[in-house]
Amino acid sequence: MKKKPSVLFEPTRIRGLELNNRLVRSATWEGMCDAEGRPTPALRDYYRDLAEGGVGLIISGFAFVAVEGKPLPGALGLHRDDFAQDLRALTTAVHQAGGVLCAQLAHAGGQTRPALCGGTPLAPSAVAAAQYQPETPAAMSGADIQRTIAAFADAARRARECGFDAVQLHAAHGYLINQFLSPHTNRRDDGYGGRLDNRARFLLSTYRAVRAAVGDDYPILVKLTGSDHLPEGLGEKEAVRVAQALDALGIDAIEVSSGTPASGKLTPLRRNILAPDQEAYNLSQARDIKAAVRCPVMVVGGIRGPDRAAAILRDGDADYLCLSRPLIREPGLPRRWRATDNPVASDCTSCNRCFKAALKGRLECLKANGA
Ligand SMILES: Cc1cc2nc3c(=O)[nH]c(=O)nc-3n(C[C@H](O)[C@H](O)[C@H](O)COP(=O)(O)O)c2cc1C
Repeated sequence: MKKKPSVLFEPTRIRGLELNNRLVRSATWEGMCDAEGRPTPALRDYYRDLAEGGVGLIISGFAFVAVEGKPLPGALGLHRDDFAQDLRALTTAVHQAGGVLCAQLAHAGGQTRPALCGGTPLAPSAVAAAQYQPETPAAMSGADIQRTIAAFADAARRARECGFDAVQLHAAHGYLINQFLSPHTNRRDDGYGGRLDNRARFLLSTYRAVRAAVGDDYPILVKLTGSDHLPEGLGEKEAVRVAQALDALGIDAIEVSSGTPASGKLTPLRRNILAPDQEAYNLSQARDIKAAVRCPVMVVGGIRGPDRAAAILRDGDADYLCLSRPLIREPGLPRRWRATDNPVASDCTSCNRCFKAALKGRLECLKANGA
């Protein structure tokens, strides 16, 4: 008889923050905020369900730090002080249900459109991000860069003041920080472009500004691309060097993802993960980063079954397992895995129809709900 994979449910700490287990809800845009980015009661209820479902750490959907960095309709905004009451309602609901909530701080850069971000999108260079985003962005000036770094720091301060337990910098999936890291989108010839040290400067400066804003006792995580999977993009070896630089500065955990919407089949949200050998599709990048850093490493992407997840921990390839689509289908998945000796894998088929549901204003598994 198989044994319960209890290694998944070990309690841990990240910079003093206590987590009940090693399962993490990876950041997932819900589309459930109002047009300005204010969280709604429906989003609060959604997070309460996730917390009751037993996941150790919930990472919020993409929270834009400035209007010009808004990626998608209904995204969360951390750009305004006057959302404090609604943000506190969100964090309180999670805490009352025994959960822990981290805010994902993000900026879309060139991966958005004027109707959402209020003007021509801003990016490291005037290079269109992906085919589906045909708008050519404007290259950021030095003042734009400084203003954006300050916006990340202000958003982090707000997150802490409103009761979020941690923040995560979004440096993956082709958004602004990833655009700076990637030679594919960063063609600058100043101190923010060219060799890797320069391309990483925006991320490292943002980390430092955020650390100064939240203090030394507050966890700062990063979601880092392990590879852009693009011929001229950031590759595995450079990603490891970026991870090492963040580790040296004191980052508290690195979640490893990969790909951008321009990466063809190797997008961050790969489809049709139906067999165990398709699972954990970012594991090789996570393993390489884990071998090169001291901080905890989280892996996301196609994790579907508890046996494979536990094996990743036992093999020492990562310290935390992050899930997005399986928790849309079944928010109580961690509780179910914990409750039984032979837990069954998620039956999420990675069809990505949940993305379409979020576009309509309510994140849900359309398959599970019969739509
Ligand atoms: C509807 C939807 C929204 C997402 N929104 C975000 C987001 O806001 N930030 C982010 O970093 N990743 C986002 N992702 C990507 C997931 O966090 C995750 O990296 C990806 O789905 C692979 O994990 P999975 O196989 O467990 O779904 C989103 C994915 C989906 C399906």
